[in-house]
Amino acid sequence: MIVSSLGLSDCPLFQRSGIIAHMAIAAADNWKAWKKNAGLVGREKESRLALAVLQAQRHLLLEGPVGVGKTFLAHCLARYLGRSLYRVDGDERYSEQKLTGWFDPPMTLKVGYVQDAFRQGPLVAAMKEGGILFINELNRMPESVQNVLLPALDERLIDIPHLGQLRAQGPFQVIATQNPHEFVATSHLSEALKDRFEWVALDYQSREEEIRIVQGQTGVADERLICGAVDLARATRTDARVRRGASVRAAISIVDIASALGGVDHLEEAARVALPTRIQLREEHQDSTGDLIQELAGSEKKNG
Ligand SMILES: Nc1ncnc2c1ncn2[C@@H]1O[C@H](COP(=O)(O)OP(=O)(O)OP(=O)(O)O)[C@@H](O)[C@H]1O
Ligand SMILES: [Mg+2]
Repeated sequence: MIVSSLGLSDCPLFQRSGIIAHMAIAAADNWKAWKKNAGLVGREKESRLALAVLQAQRHLLLEGPVGVGKTFLAHCLARYLGRSLYRVDGDERYSEQKLTGWFDPPMTLKVGYVQDAFRQGPLVAAMKEGGILFINELNRMPESVQNVLLPALDERLIDIPHLGQLRAQGPFQVIATQNPHEFVATSHLSEALKDRFEWVALDYQSREEEIRIVQGQTGVADERLICGAVDLARATRTDARVRRGASVRAAISIVDIASALGGVDHLEEAARVALPTRIQLREEHQDSTGDLIQELAGSEKKNG
């Protein structure tokens, strides 16, 4: 009523935001049922925000520690929205050519620097198809690669040497993930790049949700084993000797390995295989990984 009395319904800006709001509410309702089927546990708040960002045609940066489900959430969102996903795994040696594309040398010799000789990279593919470019670990990318993304995210165009400008089709978007600084050897994102993303943080989930995740991922029914593995992984996150604790991914591995070894009695053995690569001890305790695992697994056994 207020809208019509102010004549706002004729305003294109209002119509656009009204359509977005309507789409977002419908999407959020369907999403609840859909995510259950897809096996995504919890993450109600985060996925509501992430969906709203994508519905609003913005680019999304998911930030959180290793193994909290950033990649899984990104895949779920893309599948739910029916969008194709072009994946890029960031590392320090990733090049601009890998991201945009390159000219095939033999073909270029034959036909020159023309479209036929160009092998498109994931950024060009996503821009042409109006898809989602999914960049894992954006902050491990060299600055030169981050710079290529600036006009693509903002003006939806990039310059391809010899071929000219490419403008993105349809709803081209980027979902990127990154670990917080303290976790790995990550570099800072430039202010300009950060300014083009909306930020959704993911932290470790509750014990109950992690139990459901491990049950869902392993299909194992033994509650003692599931709870023991989850509690063990969680204990590594709060132990004063540990700099970086284990994620739910470690609990999933412990359950799978212990099951292969014969069940819950093999929890500690499984933990000795699954945890050393996933936890990082503080300098002064670096030689005591085995003792720590034995101690934490021992107290899980007592509690279980
Ligand atoms: N909320 C969740 N529901 C269901 N499974 C989950 C959830 N969170 C994490 N997982 C599972 O935990 C594992 C790790 O998730 P994922 O690979 O998405 O983490 P990540 O944050 O991308 O990790 P990394 O920082 O190492 O890239 C996967 O097997 C994933 O399916
Ligand atoms: Mg990931």
